Amino acid sequence: MPVETLSVETLRWRNGKLELIDQRRLPLEFEYVACEDAAQTAAAIRDMVVRGAPAIGCTAAYGVALAALSHAHEARPAFDAALESAFQVLAASRPTAVNLFWAIDRMRQCHAQNRTVSTRTEAEALLALAQQIHSDDIDICRAIGTHGAPLIPDGARVMTHCNAGALATAGHGTALGVIRSARDAGKRISVIANETRPYLQGARLTAWEMVQENIPVTLVTDNMAGYLMQQGRVDVIVVGADRIALNGDAANKIGTYTVAVLAERHRIPFYVAAPLSTIDIGIADGGAIPIEERDASEVTGYRGVRWAPQGVNVANPAFDVTPAALITAIITEKGVLSRPDARQIRALFKN
Ligand code: MRU
Repeated sequence: MPVETLSVETLRWRNGKLELIDQRRLPLEFEYVACEDAAQTAAAIRDMVVRGAPAIGCTAAYGVALAALSHAHEARPAFDAALESAFQVLAASRPTAVNLFWAIDRMRQCHAQNRTVSTRTEAEALLALAQQIHSDDIDICRAIGTHGAPLIPDGARVMTHCNAGALATAGHGTALGVIRSARDAGKRISVIANETRPYLQGARLTAWEMVQENIPVTLVTDNMAGYLMQQGRVDVIVVGADRIALNGDAANKIGTYTVAVLAERHRIPFYVAAPLSTIDIGIADGGAIPIEERDASEVTGYRGVRWAPQGVNVANPAFDVTPAALITAIITEKGVLSRPDARQIRALFKN
């Protein structure tokens, strides 16, 4: 498995347990936490130990496998009931990233195909599928990088929003995968990481990944993005996605839409890098994408420090939708969709 060659191993299967880098503590501390059952795995997704659409999908697949392995000694009805409860608790962990539901569906299909074998044999099949989803994700990110790298000019200053890096996937990353692959192709690349309020995925995670790999990175607060573009200090923008509708509208971390509008104003290419597992062809346009609303405490303060007065009303939508019309291209593992639309997206899923 190519996992050994990764600089950041976001998740790993060790001694019958799922281990996750605790992303809540980065960059101050680097530590793995172990999940031993589906409930712990769902809690890890909900509480942001692991985040980022593809990483959440891989994690949920292992959550199902953990449930299967711990109930493999039971009779079929009890085993099936435990799996059903795992599917449900994992599906309820976060609403926006469709990779979560994609991975659960794949595990469900495997369950449906194994009803006549022993529960032990089925549990092993579910673990093998989770491991396959995990290793495929690394290959898919590398393919996204290969397709995206030619779009990044030598010497480019690349802005990104949130963290669509190795930490948001099984490895390599989607948006940061394009940047890594461009660097590996010999291009001189520097990154502008938007801080990404309120959860600071840009300041904490993207900045950390880039520093680890000696890719020059400049951290800015979100409200500096427009000024930098106006000053001619941004050449290209690459972001990830949590769910892409059939027409190419793309949900990503809150603030992405603002960046896309500014990019259009300043005629800067705006790319979305995402695997096919992030595309929800069952949703016609971005208006139907469920947007997670997170706790007010993320906006009123951070890590126990409160700066807003008690009694203030707070809105905390975690994602926004960038209309397809603002997207220069979507970069997938199957190639680049310029000016994405339903016709091109449908074609991706044929054969
Ligand atoms: O709330 P998060 O940190 O899970 O949000 C993550 C993002 O918005 C990423 O940009 C997206 O999942 C793409 S990850 C390759």
